[in-house]
Amino acid sequence: MNDAVVVGCGIIGASVAWRLSQVGLSVTCLDPTPGDGATFAAAGMLAPVTEAEFGDAELTGLNLESAREWPGFAAELAEAAGTELGFGRTGTLTVAYDAGDRQELRRLMELRAGLGLATEEVSVDAARAMEPLLGPRIAGAAWTPDEHQVDPRRVHAALLAVLAARGVEVVRRRVVALAEQSPGGPVTGAVDDQGTTHSAGVLVLAAGWASRELTPSSGGYGAATTTTPTRPVKGQVLRLDAGPESAFSLGRVVRGFVQSRQVYLVPRADGEVVVGATSEEQPDDRRVTAGGAFGILRDARALVPGIDELPLVELTARARPGSPDNLPMIGGSGRPGLVLATGHYRNGILLAPLTAAAITAYVRDGAVPAWAAAADPRRFVRAVGPRRLAPTGGRP
Ligand code: GLY
Repeated sequence: MNDAVVVGCGIIGASVAWRLSQVGLSVTCLDPTPGDGATFAAAGMLAPVTEAEFGDAELTGLNLESAREWPGFAAELAEAAGTELGFGRTGTLTVAYDAGDRQELRRLMELRAGLGLATEEVSVDAARAMEPLLGPRIAGAAWTPDEHQVDPRRVHAALLAVLAARGVEVVRRRVVALAEQSPGGPVTGAVDDQGTTHSAGVLVLAAGWASRELTPSSGGYGAATTTTPTRPVKGQVLRLDAGPESAFSLGRVVRGFVQSRQVYLVPRADGEVVVGATSEEQPDDRRVTAGGAFGILRDARALVPGIDELPLVELTARARPGSPDNLPMIGGSGRPGLVLATGHYRNGILLAPLTAAAITAYVRDGAVPAWAAAADPRRFVRAVGPRRLAPTGGRP
């Protein structure tokens, strides 16, 4: 019997397990392929400003809170694991391809300024001075200095190393059911695909988009069918190699709008350039399509034509864990023994430190910190409750 069992050992589950073990809890993680979900595909932009969209004010608050945690989290993890995480304070240059894209960029900048986020419009010449490889057709640009990046695969490897060092077992099995005291009652652990029950004082569900499959559901992706309404949102992403032999070099994350489509290029110190991503309401089929790869490359080379020369070394497709309101689910589920750390959608890497801190506070003190209130998973429990019907005989 463990104090905690964490189901799912991607960057979220592994971060939670690390923090729980640090406060003295015995922890086991269950995952058949740790880090092979959304963590494997993620580009690692820590981008609370340039990911902020209309309707995302509460999410942006969480993202900012977690962005503040990242430098300390990265330094502590790097030291504990004795490894380098690719953490860099490079900022983000956002470019607009044509006049319509410039209009879109300006509208988003207005929104972001209204949220108190630091971003400034820069001239095309200034953008070119920052990134000489920008293509000839650029209509506008914006500079966001405070955004960072990290290599999610390195972070995950470091987390597995510190978990092993702390005696946290990562059991490579799939969880097929929650163990319950009574049907629908308190959760007492998890049952794996070999029929073994892993009992725990608390079960943390951090299984990405698949979290919904372990909680009651009547099917479909609507909020009213499950208490954990995650859904897969497929992302295709490519990796190029601008290694030491290459003359190609970007100094920072370059994002852009190309005829209303969004694209990003994330250069790493080791020469890897991550280019993404599609965002599709599709299952996690893990298939890269010709159209998906073509669209990403077409838009990326419209902004940075020099990518043409680079070897294409990896094509990846994984599903993000979407939620109905784009906010994650972090905290008590409303069901004794079951805690949720899922639904991080486009911001799983960014939100890992905050999620781990909030879940640790919840498990230890019974409440998440006030700043995590917007992510309270019980907002969907309320949605599942009995619906009011219109009185009979009245107008619909
Ligand atoms: N955060 C970038 C993405 O989800 O594609």
